[in-house]
Amino acid sequence: MSAQRRDDVDAVVLVGGKGTRLRPLTLSAPKPMLPTAGVPFLTHLLSRIKAAGVDHVILGTSYQAEVFSEYFGDGASLGLDLEYVIETEPLGTGGAIGNVAHLLRGSTAMIFNGDVLSGCDLSALLARHERAQADVTLHLTKVSDPRAFGCVPTDPDGRVTGFLEKDPDPVTDQINAGTYVFTREVVESIPVGRPVSVERETFPQLLESGAMLVGYVDSTYWRDLGKPSDFAAGSADLVRGLAPSAVLAGRTGEALVLEGCAIAPDATLTGGTTVGRGCTVGSGAVVIGSVLFDGAVVAAGARITDSIVGTDARIGEGSVLCDVVIGDRARIGRNVELLAGARVWPEVELPDGGVRFSADR
Ligand code: GTP
Repeated sequence: MSAQRRDDVDAVVLVGGKGTRLRPLTLSAPKPMLPTAGVPFLTHLLSRIKAAGVDHVILGTSYQAEVFSEYFGDGASLGLDLEYVIETEPLGTGGAIGNVAHLLRGSTAMIFNGDVLSGCDLSALLARHERAQADVTLHLTKVSDPRAFGCVPTDPDGRVTGFLEKDPDPVTDQINAGTYVFTREVVESIPVGRPVSVERETFPQLLESGAMLVGYVDSTYWRDLGKPSDFAAGSADLVRGLAPSAVLAGRTGEALVLEGCAIAPDATLTGGTTVGRGCTVGSGAVVIGSVLFDGAVVAAGARITDSIVGTDARIGEGSVLCDVVIGDRARIGRNVELLAGARVWPEVELPDGGVRFSADR
C-alpha cells in the first residue's frame, strides 16, 4: 500500500556522475541506466520514491543526459511528474543539488544518490526530519566494517557531531548512506555555477555554522552500486528479493530470465542471476550471481560467477569468469580464465585457450 501523498516534498535524484568505476559498462550508458534485475537501476529507486507518496521528481543529469529523458519521458508511466536539469559541466554532488533550487515546489527536498540500493523507510526518514525540525536529515546506515567509509557520529539526541574521514579505528559504525532531507532554504544556500561536493564542502560547512543536522540511523538493506562487484551483488539481491523493490513484487527467485532467451535444459542459473532479453546459455553452463545484458551468449560448459557480461558479448566454451566485467560485443574465446576484477573492453577479442587474466582490485 502506498504512503499518504506528500505534495509538499520534492525528490531530487543525482544521476550526473560518469561512473568511472563501472567502466567499460558506463561507456555506453550512465550507471543509473544499467540494467539490474531486468530494468534500469533508476527504475527501482523511482518506484520507491513513488511508494513514499512523492510524485514530483527532478533528475540532476550531466553525463549522457539525454538517455534519461529518452527512457523515462515525463514519468507518467511510473505515475510520476519527472523534470530534468542538465549540467553542461558536472557540478559535483552539492552543486547539482543547488542547481535544481528553481524547480522545487515544496518546502522540503529529499535528495538521493542515484546509485544506492536501500531499504530505508523514506516516510520514517521524512518524519524524523519533521519531528526534529532539522535543516538537514541524513540517512545513516550501520555497516559491519566501517573502515572503508567516512563515518558520521551523532550525539544521544541524534544530532550529527562530525563528518570523519576513513579511519582504521572508526569511532562509529554509522556511515553516510547517500539519502538526505533538506529544507528548501538549505538547497537555496548552496553556491551555484561551480562544482561543490555535498560530502566534503556543504555538510562540514553547515555543521560549522551551527545548522541542525540530524541522523536517521537504521540497518536495513543498503548497498552502493558504484563498483562492479557491488553492482552484480545488488542486482542479485534484487532478483532474490533480499533488496526491496516494488518493481519486482512477486517475481523474485534464484534467477530472472527475460524474454526471447534460449537456455539449455541442463544449464544452471542461480544466485540471483539475471539473463537479459535474447540471451543464449549453452549446455552445462553455470551462471551464478551474475548479470547477462541483452543478447549475451554463454557457450556450453562456461562458468560465470559474480560477473557482468555486456550487451551481445560472447563467452566461449569452457571459459571461467569470476568477478569480472565484459564489455559490450566483446568475444571471449574457449577455455579462457578471467578472474578477480579483470575488465574486457567493448569489441575486444580474446583468443582461445588456457589464458589466465586477472587484475588487482
Ligand atoms: P565514479 O566515477 O565511479 O566514482 O561514479 P560517479 O561518477 O557516479 O560518482 P559517485 O559514485 O561518487 O556519485 C554518487 C552519485 O552522485 C551518483 O548517483 C552520481 O550519478 C551522482 N553524481 C556524482 N557527481 C555528479 C555531478 O557532478 N552532477 C550530478 N548531477 N550528479 C553527480
